[in-house]
Amino acid sequence: MAQINPKMVEDTSRDVVLITGASGGIGAALAAEFAAAGNDLFLVARRGDMLADLATDLTDKHDIQVDFLALDLTKAEAGAHLEAESIRLGVNVDILVNNAGFGLSGRFDRIDREAQLEMIDLNIRALVDLTLRFVPGMMKRRRGGVLNVGSIAGFLPGPYMAGYYASKAFVGSYTAALAVECRKAGVRFTNLAPGPVATGFAARAGMTRTPLFRRLQVQDAATVARAGYKGFAAGRRLVIPNIANRLFILASRFVPNRLRDAVVAYVVRPR
Ligand SMILES: NC(=O)c1ccc[n+]([C@@H]2O[C@H](COP(=O)([O-])OP(=O)(O)OC[C@H]3O[C@@H](n4cnc5c(N)ncnc54)[C@H](OP(=O)(O)O)[C@@H]3O)[C@@H](O)[C@H]2O)c1
Repeated sequence: MAQINPKMVEDTSRDVVLITGASGGIGAALAAEFAAAGNDLFLVARRGDMLADLATDLTDKHDIQVDFLALDLTKAEAGAHLEAESIRLGVNVDILVNNAGFGLSGRFDRIDREAQLEMIDLNIRALVDLTLRFVPGMMKRRRGGVLNVGSIAGFLPGPYMAGYYASKAFVGSYTAALAVECRKAGVRFTNLAPGPVATGFAARAGMTRTPLFRRLQVQDAATVARAGYKGFAAGRRLVIPNIANRLFILASRFVPNRLRDAVVAYVVRPR
């Protein structure tokens, strides 16, 4: 039987940017940024109709190809499904954007247990699963990158949003560590860590009436996505959009922990 020399087989796969949680909010805005820069996209979220609308809009505006898949990333088999679909489509995930995520607020023992575990599955488990599935390929090709959407919540404890804050601390720590491990393989990592943003997030987290979303400066998704895209393109490991958020994180290191924790509890506690 004829032997095929793998070096002689031309790689005909198309490079794509895989974006999770692209059906709205920051994810849809990031899709618009990557599309405007001429990247083909592979979009994922549960609401397929929203992804279809976005795909039509972006292909009308830009000379790109957009694939999408309606998928619940909290399901254990979701990562395998997504990887199989990328092979079926014949695409290389050259850039992975782990954006899908949600928060929950309330006293830790009063928030529904299943909802909390779903949040961990999405914010942490799915992000790690997709990293393990797609980053080794990038390392082999010696190019690519990962843009993880963390939060300023990842820099401090979050009384009344304990699980969410801790999940974003994981995102920040994991991203910073992998940036070091993968640097020599030519794969870059960015943690986009926004403060409050006007998206579907506050409603799902039960936070629309909290001071965090009513009184503080809430950014729009397009501004946050632009800062994230630019920072990622420039190879920055951490992007915190908005000077007020950067100052808040800096100040939180110098005030007593009790005061810091009381301020966070006050602004996030559901009303
Ligand atoms: N908004 C903020 O104030 C804020 C601040 C800091 C960080 N962030 C982070 O930003 C990221 C994006 O959130 P956002 O503010 O844009 O909120 P959003 O408008 O609620 O968008 C969340 C996205 O995640 C998708 N998603 C939710 N559950 C999913 C699941 N089980 N499987 C697959 N996709 C799922 C949603 O799509 P479907 O509903 O169609 O599945 C949607 O596209 C999150 O990681 C969030 O933690 C947000």
